[in-house]
Amino acid sequence: MSESPLFLLAEHTTLGVGGPAAHWREARTHVEIQAALAWASERGLSTVVLGGGSNVLAADRGIDGLVLRLRNAKLQASRAGDVARITVGAGMNWDAFVAWTVAEGFSGLECLSGIPGEVGAAPLQNIGAYGQEAGRVIRRVEVVDRATGATEELSQEACEFGYRESIFKTKLAERFIVVEVEFELSKGPALVAYGELERALENEPEPSLLRVRETVLNLRRAKSMLLDPSDPNGRSAGSFFVNPGVSHHEADAVEERARALAVHAPMPRFTQGAKQKLSAGWLIEHSGLTKGTRRGQVGLSTKHCLAVVNHGGATAEEIVKFATEIRQRVRDTFGVTLTPEPRPLGFLPGELAALYD
Ligand code: EPU
Repeated sequence: MSESPLFLLAEHTTLGVGGPAAHWREARTHVEIQAALAWASERGLSTVVLGGGSNVLAADRGIDGLVLRLRNAKLQASRAGDVARITVGAGMNWDAFVAWTVAEGFSGLECLSGIPGEVGAAPLQNIGAYGQEAGRVIRRVEVVDRATGATEELSQEACEFGYRESIFKTKLAERFIVVEVEFELSKGPALVAYGELERALENEPEPSLLRVRETVLNLRRAKSMLLDPSDPNGRSAGSFFVNPGVSHHEADAVEERARALAVHAPMPRFTQGAKQKLSAGWLIEHSGLTKGTRRGQVGLSTKHCLAVVNHGGATAEEIVKFATEIRQRVRDTFGVTLTPEPRPLGFLPGELAALYD
């Protein structure tokens, strides 16, 4: 376990904002995680766990407690025929893990190529893209209870996975630290079941897992949704808002408002259970905040309205102000309230009410 005097969250988050961590430790094993929790608790400090920092909005004031960076990145596979159980440390880079599964011929995660962050975040927000979700192939999640330091295991059912959601964000929010995730994957064909991906591969029947991975990476690159330091749209937290789920009646009302505003682009809407899923990017764009809209050093990506970009030197306060403007604008225009995706860190109670409540 190591501790160092100054760690700026801006340097450890993909949005590139956030002040210093008062205390910083890195942990590789359960024992080190438990020791760090005990160390913080003895001093009356709160502990914040940081993964790849790709879905985090850190406050300019920083964090006055302990920031714990997990570095456990081991991967262990046990195989039986075409099926494997793969146990992966929370600190492993997500895309490195996906690349491994594709190289080994296992299907189930190929569409999740290029998602920034680490394996530990996958169950938290049930990461998903192009028709796949991590929660479908997660069999077990090993966690450490923050209060007691005890290790526990949650089955797939116990995780209550939903769209960008799990029990770790709802009933058990902030109770556990994810330390290890077990996946069950089988050898099999790639999934091509999302319009944009189908179009990109329309001339290739039965594309290999590797081709699908490459195609997803290209699609994400084209939208600046890959971590790339040379990309001017790249300093972001990916999608800043989740796609809203509304009733059929509300979706009709939104469509009606769009018609009244003479929006000609058809409104994307997909059935998800009893809800209609709308596209937050489309709503933002047609509320008048078009791609590339700027407010000083903050703006919308020029490729995709769902990404809020720090163009260099922006503060968290500026990001919050702009994101709040976006939320207000979409609410005023379409009557839909967007929910931000990044996890806020270091803000005071009530400070983000206009953005998160
Ligand atoms: N659209 C617009 N304007 C925009 C952006 C999108 O009109 O500026 C429209 C598109 O034309 C399309 C629809 O919105 O009809 C959906 O766009 P897209 O296919 O890009 O997907 P998304 O719903 O915006 C979601 C995920 C992404 C994931 C893609 C592909 C969420 C919040 N985002 O984006 O995940 O890669 O689908 O599956 O669910 C992330 O969460 O950080 C992320 C990048």
